[in-house]
Amino acid sequence: MQIAIHDRSGSFSDIWIEHCIENGIHYKEVNCYNSNIISELKDCDGLMWHWDLTDYKSNLMARQLTQSLERINIKVFPDVDTSWHYDDKVGQKYLLEAIGVPLINTYVFFSKKDADNWLSRTTFPKVFKLRNGAGSSNVRLVKDKPEAERMINIAFGQGFSQTNPFARLKERIWMFRRDKNLTSAQRLLTGVARIFVKNEIEKYSQKEKGYIYFQDFIPQNEFDIRLVIVGTRCFGLRRFCRKGDFRASGSGLKDYDYTKIDTECIRIAFESAQKLNAQSVAFDFISHQGEYKIIELSYAFTSHQFPGFWDQNLNWHKGSVSPQKFMIEDFVNSLVKVHKFVS
Ligand SMILES: Nc1ncnc2c1ncn2[C@@H]1O[C@H](COP(=O)(O)OP(=O)(O)O)[C@@H](O)[C@H]1O
Ligand SMILES: [Mg+2]
Repeated sequence: MQIAIHDRSGSFSDIWIEHCIENGIHYKEVNCYNSNIISELKDCDGLMWHWDLTDYKSNLMARQLTQSLERINIKVFPDVDTSWHYDDKVGQKYLLEAIGVPLINTYVFFSKKDADNWLSRTTFPKVFKLRNGAGSSNVRLVKDKPEAERMINIAFGQGFSQTNPFARLKERIWMFRRDKNLTSAQRLLTGVARIFVKNEIEKYSQKEKGYIYFQDFIPQNEFDIRLVIVGTRCFGLRRFCRKGDFRASGSGLKDYDYTKIDTECIRIAFESAQKLNAQSVAFDFISHQGEYKIIELSYAFTSHQFPGFWDQNLNWHKGSVSPQKFMIEDFVNSLVKVHKFVS
């Protein structure tokens, strides 16, 4: 048995490759962007590739490659169920509504007329989002109807950029003032450089337009709850909002104290992951009138180390763990099962 791993430094592949070496698992490094990738994978039972929104190219072909490999019974991490909705809040809206998990009321329109009709009946504030983006960069509060009208005009006019170098620089100045360390200084410098030199995402990504997405605003949340499910384990943390802001994602203000996370939220996360049939999924929750609602989901996430995990019976298992190790463990186990069945 052999698995293929797309090696990208700083991504989950670092941990996956380490795990293969430690456990004597046959693996081969591949580059999924090679035009002959399908023939390169013919001697492999599975492919693991941590692609994400920081690599603009993956958006052009990762889903298509995954679908094609599943068609010829080569298993993939992330598989179609796990990944098709990644970085696509519009897709997630339909999926979460379809499988009946508690999503915040979400409205999406594909014509100015439909958006205007809704506008005449709705209340404010609302939360506006682009379908893609991370770290709260494409999320903002819309306070009143005139502001929503302006957003609708842009959505069905010139469109929104997926990235805003000035907003990013402002955020990095704020982080540097707060952290005053080497990392925040480096990020501040690259933020300045990015005003003048575009990165690949800025060069190649298209404007977001022709749709508009709003959510009910859920007030009074000082933090969101990030719960990651990998197979039968749940990892958790709380992410606190920026000062004077309703947005937690990307603030860098994290707390891993597991005793602060309500087991009801964990139960919903396990149940929802099962309905999604996901190999790995990170949910962001906020609480609304005593009930937990999902904001969004993502198979990939930034945390690598947690102080323990809950099992499906909601028992806590203490000890420093990395979800990425469990991803490869589960993946290899699923391949071994197929092998036993076939031979
Ligand atoms: N409907 C909402 N009501 C209140 N707060 C929200 C809502 N949606 C998002 N937030 C806050 O904004 C943050 C970013 O939103 P999210 O949709 O997760 O965007 P991103 O993909 O950038 O992480 C969340 O972490 C949460 O704190
Ligand atoms: Mg988020």
